[in-house]
Amino acid sequence: MAVEPFDTVDLIRTKRSGEPLGTAEIDWLVDAYTRGYVEDPQMAAMAMAIFLNGMERREIKDLTLAMIASGERMSFGSLGKTTVDKHSTGGVGDKITLPLAPLVASFGVAVPQLSGRGLGHTGGTLDKLESIPGWQASITNDRMLSILSDVGAVICAAGSGLAPADKKLYALRDITGTVECIPLIASSIMSKKIAEGTGALVLDVKFGSGAFMPSYEASRELAQTMVDLGNDAGVATSALLTDMEVPLGGTIGNALEVRESAEVLAGGGPSDVVDLTIALATEMLTLAGLPDADPAAALADGRAMDTWRRMISAQGGDPDAPLPAAREQHVVRAPSSGVLATQEALPFGIAAWRLGAGRARAQDPVQAGAGIELHVKPGDTVAEGQPLWTLHTDEAARFERALESLEGAWSIGGSAEERGPIVRDRISG
Ligand code: URA
Repeated sequence: MAVEPFDTVDLIRTKRSGEPLGTAEIDWLVDAYTRGYVEDPQMAAMAMAIFLNGMERREIKDLTLAMIASGERMSFGSLGKTTVDKHSTGGVGDKITLPLAPLVASFGVAVPQLSGRGLGHTGGTLDKLESIPGWQASITNDRMLSILSDVGAVICAAGSGLAPADKKLYALRDITGTVECIPLIASSIMSKKIAEGTGALVLDVKFGSGAFMPSYEASRELAQTMVDLGNDAGVATSALLTDMEVPLGGTIGNALEVRESAEVLAGGGPSDVVDLTIALATEMLTLAGLPDADPAAALADGRAMDTWRRMISAQGGDPDAPLPAAREQHVVRAPSSGVLATQEALPFGIAAWRLGAGRARAQDPVQAGAGIELHVKPGDTVAEGQPLWTLHTDEAARFERALESLEGAWSIGGSAEERGPIVRDRISG
């Protein structure tokens, strides 16, 4: 049996006392955890020590590289096209990947978008697309390359070969209260994105009540850490800091969000979704060497819609099929006239989740038609009795707990607080 070069408990003690771990120590720790020599309780103690004491920039980079080295590294070199990807830290009603990937691809850039399923109150891109009849999330690497070559955009499930160390560690963090930690989040996200082999990457880092890092300062630090990791690894990376204080757009929930995305691709849709889609597309196209491209024109003239239809069809989906609708609806009406003053993202996300749009455990199913339609946004004038939101679910018994989540989550008053632009800052390397 090979002699292990380090003692796990020594490394935990080092981090527990706030000292940095060396590069060789981090490499060994990640490798030994992946092969099962370092056990879950030991890694949980290490994650908590990192949570409490943080990591230096060099340690975060070492952790990221070690997690990349734990699995396969994809390459899109054979495509002969520039590749650019987007990652969002997740929010309520965040359906931007759906219109964004085909929009950017309509300029001849390849967009390989490896996505996940939702857990908790933030929805997963794959769950949304799976509400389209026939659409398949899992495809082989060869099929992915051929769709990227023919259509330019692909949104699919990440294979289990990418950064397996992160997969194991993220699941452990989820059950040990160690998710909300900048070094761990940054290395987790960037290990997968760098291993995926994209040439450039734009990060949509959310702040506000619906983001999992609500504070603006913490979100900024997370964005800067990830931008540094990407650029250090040779992936041209930039980030937009975007507002997730209120839900994005007018829908939360899988099929409802697909419908809204199709509206954006048809040249309409809510202004916040359109603005963010165009801002992220401009950033992606700039990194891809097309700073003068006009994404708004590609939404208006149908080029992006054409790419969307081809992208959905290439994965077995029928872009013309009616989307599933929930069996039950409940309309919440305005109790008085005035202006919608507040609308907090997180409780709306939780309500949609309770209606069946999201899952509590990774193995749970989701309801395609469940969710919430938002008929008004902060600043809109409302009349007494007017519909504010429509709740959708297949099981009427779910309304009660969803409505509980919405209690105190919105208010009608004389005026709404002024919101700044949805994109609050840009961070580049
Ligand atoms: N998403 C990830 O992939 N990892 C994290 O740690 C948090 C969000």
